[in-house]
Amino acid sequence: MDRFKIEGGRRLEGTVRISGSKNASLPAMAAALLTSEPVCLQNIPGVRDIITMAKLLAHMRARVESPDLPPSEFTIAAETISHAEAPYELVKTMRASILTLGPLVGRFGFARVSLPGGCAIGARPVDLHIQALEKMGAKISIHHGYVEARCERLRGAQIHFDKITVTGTENILTAAVLAEGETVLTNAAREPEVTDLIELLIKMGAKIEGRGTSTLHVHGVDKLHGATHAVIPDRIEAGTFIVAAAITGGDVKLTHCAPQHLTAVIETLAACGVEIQKEGVSCLRVRAPKALRAADITTEEYPGFATDMQAQFMALATQAEGKSEITETIFENRFMHAQEMIRMGANIAIDGHRAVVQGPTPLSGATVIASDLRASASLVLAGLVASNTTYIDRIYHLDRGYEKIEEKLQDLGASIERI
Ligand code: EPZ
Repeated sequence: MDRFKIEGGRRLEGTVRISGSKNASLPAMAAALLTSEPVCLQNIPGVRDIITMAKLLAHMRARVESPDLPPSEFTIAAETISHAEAPYELVKTMRASILTLGPLVGRFGFARVSLPGGCAIGARPVDLHIQALEKMGAKISIHHGYVEARCERLRGAQIHFDKITVTGTENILTAAVLAEGETVLTNAAREPEVTDLIELLIKMGAKIEGRGTSTLHVHGVDKLHGATHAVIPDRIEAGTFIVAAAITGGDVKLTHCAPQHLTAVIETLAACGVEIQKEGVSCLRVRAPKALRAADITTEEYPGFATDMQAQFMALATQAEGKSEITETIFENRFMHAQEMIRMGANIAIDGHRAVVQGPTPLSGATVIASDLRASASLVLAGLVASNTTYIDRIYHLDRGYEKIEEKLQDLGASIERI
């Protein structure tokens, strides 16, 4: 199994190109199931979750073509599909497979998708997706670990999400676009990935009002058509590189990013003393201060501080002067990285949903285990500032969501290799 070997203590300097967003690409790929015409998606990141989604669509007999490898562009044509099913073997490796449920039942009136089960960061149920589809007239049953949804044609409904859910909003949007009548989603997620999906759906002929807000009106249409769409830049990858520059005393320029999606991260890091300057519409220059200052964060739905940046911020907090309080409100078990950072010398106390980090503490290289995607990224960041050598095991988590992370870090001067 691959692992990373990192020699810490190098200052990062140079330019890094930010890839397309994994979490915007996945619902966009699933949305291609909504039409018999080809959908061309550009700026797709070459990461493993994208390959898994491509496999899943191919398993349904959609045609999935890419001119390059790893793919940065896909043309997906779902003229017909032979099985409207997401099997357990694929779902267990990628929860986002649940995103095929809405488009399948919306277009074909039937879907069978394995239930994802729990994961390293929490229970992560999909009850809100299921309740919403039931309200739209789908008959849902759960057999042998699979959710089966059936109906003649979904009908519009008033859907209020008791909790804000990103993939839940995406799933119901993609179900509602072909439903009969109007669907109104309230307390919908406002993440840029949701807004990007809405833009794609509108290009495909969907009628949706309210993008970027928590109330979405979807007027169902009979048919959607093909479209070409470049997905938005990955705001979490960008945030990770901002922290990498800040934590190593670096000076790094990020290109092809979307600064407007990074407001909470930029404001928090500015409070830590990091200088972040916008250059043009899609570049950011990040300059570390002489000494980082502590700051408090509470994870929230967009536009708040993203839970997907919490672990990376914790790595930074270990190097900041003073006490940083980190409160995780989205997932119940998302502090696994803290134990590994403590093994590297960090001073972190966990109390339920709150972590208190006292810094700065020198970190020393150790062998650590990554438990999920963002936890892995935070351990890479810790390794970049630790003395001597850090080995990170189970980096397949990183490969799920970061494109060529070691090459990008090497180009900035880090000593990191895959062994
Ligand atoms: C998306 O997951 C992202 N995944 C996650 O990114 C991200 O951490 C998360 O949103 C929050 O921003 C993708 O976009 C593919 P949720 P999702 O439904 O949609 C509860 C990464 O590292 N909930 O918004 O699965 C749930 O348990 C990943 O790239 C229910 O109770 O998250 C959680 O506490 C990890 N019932 C909260 O809502 C439901 O039916 C928010 O989860 C659905 C969700």
